[in-house]
Amino acid sequence: MLKGKNIIVTGGAGFIGSHIAEALAPGNSVKIIDNLYTGLKSNIGSVKEFEFCNADITDRERIAKELREIDIVFHEGANVRIPDSIKNPQFDATVNIIGTLNVLEASRINDIQNVVFAASTSVYGDPVELPMTEGHPLNPKSPYAVGKRACEDYMKIYNELYGIKTVCLRYFNVYGPRQRADSPYSGVISIFADRLKNGKEVIVYGDGEQSRDFVNVKDVVTANILAAGSGRSGIYNVGSGTEITLNGLIKMMAGILKLKPEVVYRKKRQGDVRRSLADLTKIKKELGFEPEIRLEEGLREVLL
Ligand SMILES: NC(=O)c1ccc[n+]([C@@H]2O[C@H](COP(=O)([O-])OP(=O)(O)OC[C@H]3O[C@@H](n4cnc5c(N)ncnc54)[C@H](O)[C@@H]3O)[C@@H](O)[C@H]2O)c1
Repeated sequence: MLKGKNIIVTGGAGFIGSHIAEALAPGNSVKIIDNLYTGLKSNIGSVKEFEFCNADITDRERIAKELREIDIVFHEGANVRIPDSIKNPQFDATVNIIGTLNVLEASRINDIQNVVFAASTSVYGDPVELPMTEGHPLNPKSPYAVGKRACEDYMKIYNELYGIKTVCLRYFNVYGPRQRADSPYSGVISIFADRLKNGKEVIVYGDGEQSRDFVNVKDVVTANILAAGSGRSGIYNVGSGTEITLNGLIKMMAGILKLKPEVVYRKKRQGDVRRSLADLTKIKKELGFEPEIRLEEGLREVLL
């Protein structure tokens, strides 16, 4: 457990960042950097012991200033909308690549020892073998995924050149409270939960037999804390190590809510992978990570 540290969470008003800030605020000094692009002030309303900076990670000078006297950076801030990265790749690269470089440069200038980066399973593209280890071939399918891959390389280089401990956590499908449901590209669990609770039909793109590895945000927070305290650098998968099809997920969610959902199947979306499953051998062995929240338990928290 981290105690007495000066911590920055970029993207700390977002879904995952707000959970990291909330977990670390007691016992540490936590500063959140967020421009509220997709994040919400209400996400951090419950966290009393932090400082909020409405700042943009593309603002190099401001970021260098805000990172003074910081021990650890959790870098969650990003454009997370993959379709936007296809429509406007310059925007995506500016926020996700240049923004990340600004965070790394500010870390170097301010002699920060630990940076934990929100990487993504999207770097793998279509799986050629399952479960996917960190050695699985990389085949990004969107500018967003290309950017995440580039940032992993920058993290590695800053470790090699300057000795900063940089950890890249390749999140699989993260879910939990506060995940937004108001975009068709939000997390599927938040969208399904919203529709089921409002008596609407559930829309599935494809036959619903595509699988995903859903990891609870609390487990993602644990992985971040373990990474920051490990003294290691490297790349780690963060998933649950289990997969479920979307049809199976709908059945589980409907069972919790005790209702019979209407499911509408639409044409498969371009770029959607058929299966996804994390191999957690490396993170378990090197960071001592063990996912604790079973999907059904996590869904109850989201649904009830
Ligand atoms: N949710 C998932 O399943 C998932 C999977 C893989 C990777 N990730 C990564 O995890 C991180 C957090 O994602 P999330 O799901 O919490 O999304 P989110 O949209 O809730 O959080 C992203 C945060 O970054 C902030 N932000 C965006 N542009 C910014 C800028 N220019 N300056 C400062 N802040 C900025 C947003 O306002 C938001 O609060 C992201 O880096 C994302 O790419 C998420």
